[in-house]
Amino acid sequence: MDLTTRYLGMTLRSPLIASASPLNSSLDNIRQLEDFGAGAVVLPSIFEEQIEREQEIFDALMTTGIDTHSEALSYFPAQTAYAFDTDRYIEAVQKAVEHVDIPVIASLNGITDHGWVDYAERIEEAGASAIELNIYFIPSDLTLSGREVEARYLQVLKAVKSIVRIPVAVKIGPYFSSPGHMALELEKAGADGLVLFNRFYEPDIDLAQLSLKPSLELSTPYEMRLPLLWIAVLSGQVKASLAATTGVESGDDVIKYLLAGADVVMTTSSILRHGLGHMKVLHDQFTAWLAARDLSSSDEIRGRLSHRNIANPEALERANYIKVLQGYQGV
Ligand SMILES: Cc1cc2nc3c(=O)[nH]c(=O)nc-3n(C[C@H](O)[C@H](O)[C@H](O)COP(=O)(O)O)c2cc1C
Repeated sequence: MDLTTRYLGMTLRSPLIASASPLNSSLDNIRQLEDFGAGAVVLPSIFEEQIEREQEIFDALMTTGIDTHSEALSYFPAQTAYAFDTDRYIEAVQKAVEHVDIPVIASLNGITDHGWVDYAERIEEAGASAIELNIYFIPSDLTLSGREVEARYLQVLKAVKSIVRIPVAVKIGPYFSSPGHMALELEKAGADGLVLFNRFYEPDIDLAQLSLKPSLELSTPYEMRLPLLWIAVLSGQVKASLAATTGVESGDDVIKYLLAGADVVMTTSSILRHGLGHMKVLHDQFTAWLAARDLSSSDEIRGRLSHRNIANPEALERANYIKVLQGYQGV
């Protein structure tokens, strides 16, 4: 079975990728994911805030004087929690690159084009095959227009692209008035790939404590419908690689994303739920599906059910919605 896949200009041995999560901060886990058939791994994100705070500490030390290091550090209790994280991240990239043969993609997570983006250069020097740029921006300032929000995404991407030569994929959420147009704009600004979609953190409310309850729920396959729709729409209409993220639980879900037109399919929740060996389960289920239909490569199904390739593209649009609702008449 030929599972080789082009993603961000690289040739991967499989379209299955372990998406960004702390699972991939351990070299041992990354090695196991490689053994279980992953085509690439994305390291957990390093955040703009971490990089900036470390820079603040450094600047403070420089202005306070080299002899008073520990005293100066004590002025920054909140920041010290992050101190040296950026060096550790670079070490993690180097170690992973040294010890596995699959591409190691580093993840930068930020929302401005300020100095923190220079860190991308260190990631490139450490040997990462690509950068996944997660732009996680919640426009809670109601004076910001959609156009301004979009401009911010493009600025961050352009800033990172101006620093590195390795490919950059952008991980975005679905909340744009016109996600397809945004995808084209990102491509024009240099995005080598699009990772669809970011799952935004949505806090719950704790009624006993009358406070916000921070929790991060693992995804369910139902949530793959939105990225599935947009991958189907974008497939064949953008040159950027398309990565599907969210909701993959079984080999069938992998097949669905490929049929819609994804170049690669990522997973985190399923691995957190079932363990690292689930990468092999996905690999086996998905290859068995292909084999059962006498297909010899994943390329043979990629995009077959994309908006461009289906006979009735309106099935992805409004017309089908009306038809579906009519089915409920008289219930
Ligand atoms: C515990 C956890 C940690 C995550 N950490 C990151 C991260 O550091 N950077 C990032 O871009 N996405 C992160 N994600 C998002 C995943 O990479 C993925 O996009 C999302 O969970 C949807 O995929 P899934 O349905 O396969 O979980 C995290 C998700 C989880 C559940």
